[in-house]
Amino acid sequence: MRLTKEENNMLAGKYGYPVQKSMEILVSLGECYNAEKMIPITSAHLLPNIGMLGKGGALFIQEIADRGGKFVVPSTTNPSSIDPSAWKEFGISEEFADEQIKLNKAFTDMGTFLCDTCTPYVVGHVPRMRDHVAWNESSTIIFANSVLGARTNREGGPSALAAALTGRVPEYGYHLDQNRYGDLRILVTAKLEHLHDYGTLGFFTGRVAEDRVPVFAGIPASVSWDELKLLGAAAATSGSVTLYHVVGITPEAPTEAVAFGGKKPQEWPTVEFGEKELHETEESLSKATAREVDLVAFGCPHASITEIREIARLLSGRKLKSGVELWVSTSRIVKAYAEMMGYVDIIEASGARVTCHTCPLSPYEGFLEDLGHRTIATNSPKLACYVGQGQDVLPYYGSLERCVEAAVSGIWR
Ligand code: F3S
Repeated sequence: MRLTKEENNMLAGKYGYPVQKSMEILVSLGECYNAEKMIPITSAHLLPNIGMLGKGGALFIQEIADRGGKFVVPSTTNPSSIDPSAWKEFGISEEFADEQIKLNKAFTDMGTFLCDTCTPYVVGHVPRMRDHVAWNESSTIIFANSVLGARTNREGGPSALAAALTGRVPEYGYHLDQNRYGDLRILVTAKLEHLHDYGTLGFFTGRVAEDRVPVFAGIPASVSWDELKLLGAAAATSGSVTLYHVVGITPEAPTEAVAFGGKKPQEWPTVEFGEKELHETEESLSKATAREVDLVAFGCPHASITEIREIARLLSGRKLKSGVELWVSTSRIVKAYAEMMGYVDIIEASGARVTCHTCPLSPYEGFLEDLGHRTIATNSPKLACYVGQGQDVLPYYGSLERCVEAAVSGIWR
């Protein structure tokens, strides 16, 4: 790679160990992908989760912080392993909570905004179009690339951290114009009536697109951020889709021709998503067989104020079936907003909980099993997919309304 004089100084240790180590990580990554140079970034989104980082990852981050590491661009955090004000109620051990709290301090010492959400763009951290950023977490990444028009690769925990400490990433992948054009057309003929239908479309798309860039035709102009968020999260789960375009909606797709970067229409392979595909994909995500549900989970990705309002409307004046829990995961900031609006009181009066800083998959592997859950209902394809990969907890997947009814009756219908 061609490095500038300053970057060579970073690599030589002139700016201290944290910067030197970070530059080593970034140069190795750049060499792997044949990057020619480094480019500056405007933000980083980091993995702060002790359950995923493990002891080794936490020790590395602590060492970087102890040796004076400071983030040089605005940096935010994905959900952590605990809600600092409610971890005991979720059966988390004191030792585990202490490790996460210690790690949080290392991150804040280095200068992060500890927003602990996979929707940092909802709480004020919105990159501009064409900004190069280094974001971690597949649902967050695909939203930044597709809906905001920012540019990021799928950064892992170490590379996002290194980027935050140096303000740079190697220039390859989705930072380059030529890799941002569509190479598969998804013709949507199914009627998308519910929020989760967008998740179903995304899950179908990830399966057929794998690592390609899909271009959606036929999505209504009224599509919301919540729907695009669910669509992207699902496509990034069943495939490694990192960028998608919606013709006439997303910033790099004013027309199909622009989205495909000048390729002729005969070079756009087209796959149709009709009623049959909608139905079959939705069915495929439900793996549970027991009719009794013991947990209903919303907010994967983290719920917006609009989603929380809808959950409050559906739960208003009702009670969860005894033995059934319902969690709504969101950020601290959106929870505060929902409290101010009275939605949290309505939801919690039913026996449900609004949790923040974390999500059902963030604590550690086996967390849901340890709490004794066996059958979970959700409107999130990502959550259903990951839960469905295990043996002990099995998912039902369906609409928000259907999940709420399951929480109230205890039965999946
Ligand atoms: Fe976000 Fe956790 Fe889902 S990080 S995308 S709520 S698995």
